[in-house]
Amino acid sequence: MPAESVGAFAPGRVNLIGEHTDYNGGLALPFAIAEGITVSAEALGGGDTAHDGSRIEARALDLDERDAFDIGEPWPNGGWRAFVRGTAGELQNQGWTLPSATLEIGGDLPRGAGLSSSAALEVALALALLELAREPRPPHPDAIALATLCSRVENDWVGARTGLLDQLASLCGEAEHAVLIDFRTLEMEPVPLRLEAWRLVVLDSGERHDVASSGYNDRRVECARACELLGIEYLSEANTGALGDLPETLRKRALHVLEEDARVRTAASALRRGDLAPLGELLNASHRSLRDQYEVSTPALDAAAARLRECGAAGARMIGGGFGGSVLGLFGPGSRPPPEAREVQPSAGAHVLESETRRT
Ligand code: GLA
Repeated sequence: MPAESVGAFAPGRVNLIGEHTDYNGGLALPFAIAEGITVSAEALGGGDTAHDGSRIEARALDLDERDAFDIGEPWPNGGWRAFVRGTAGELQNQGWTLPSATLEIGGDLPRGAGLSSSAALEVALALALLELAREPRPPHPDAIALATLCSRVENDWVGARTGLLDQLASLCGEAEHAVLIDFRTLEMEPVPLRLEAWRLVVLDSGERHDVASSGYNDRRVECARACELLGIEYLSEANTGALGDLPETLRKRALHVLEEDARVRTAASALRRGDLAPLGELLNASHRSLRDQYEVSTPALDAAAARLRECGAAGARMIGGGFGGSVLGLFGPGSRPPPEAREVQPSAGAHVLESETRRT
């Protein structure tokens, strides 16, 4: 039965390792964090069936900004409005009948810090709007279908050609686990990430990042070109031996993907054994590769990673798309992260908070 009012929460994510591998058909090992986005939604009008031209009134509490739109109307100027309009529009395109509604968006996840506030926003919106959807209701989408719908919001409404990493991490996170994702098969496996005396922290580089306007889309074009030259579908399928034929830049991009996949495998094996020590050097190697081979780091990100290492981190690396955002640091027992870093914990994935059906 459709809900009249509902809350939904979707967490941000930290990617332990496996960066820029998702759209290359590779592997990643992200986890959901405790911080996230909350959407409170209320249907207006109370009718069972939505009328043509359902209207949404949305408010972003942290910015104190509002939007009001007919579902399907685009927002060409970026920012949070494009995500809200896109999520409602994509659900409607998939056959969901949404009523007119008010939406309040809040939460404790900083924007643009590389913790996937965009994916958390899309996922929380989608979960809340699905609860409000009127009869007849198609079957509830599974995590992969929902992540794909949300990534269409980024690709087609926002202009960021991101993969499925952030949405799947937000949807499928589990407390005390990371999720090993194989982006070629979309198989997922929860892997224990019990920190005990270890600590994971993120440090904001202070440099804001915006995927749609950064070099992220350029990297996608380069990877597609490399695949074309190698005659393969995904870079993760490449043979190291064949890379010598590629132009130097494309060879470096491909090497990063293959080596990063190998690091993810090693990291997952270590976690399955409950051994966090090997992760330190894997994080450092991942950062070097993102800086030198994939070229998505910046001096501010390098400096933030160096700061964490100087403070005693066993390893540190930039996370997310790069060109700004945050770095992740792993601190062993007895070492102390700097006070400006934020501790993160592998936490539960997105969920509906409470919903109220029609009062009769
Ligand atoms: C961003 C994108 C993800 C992924 C990462 C890099 O976070 O949204 O799809 O490509 O960058 O690993």
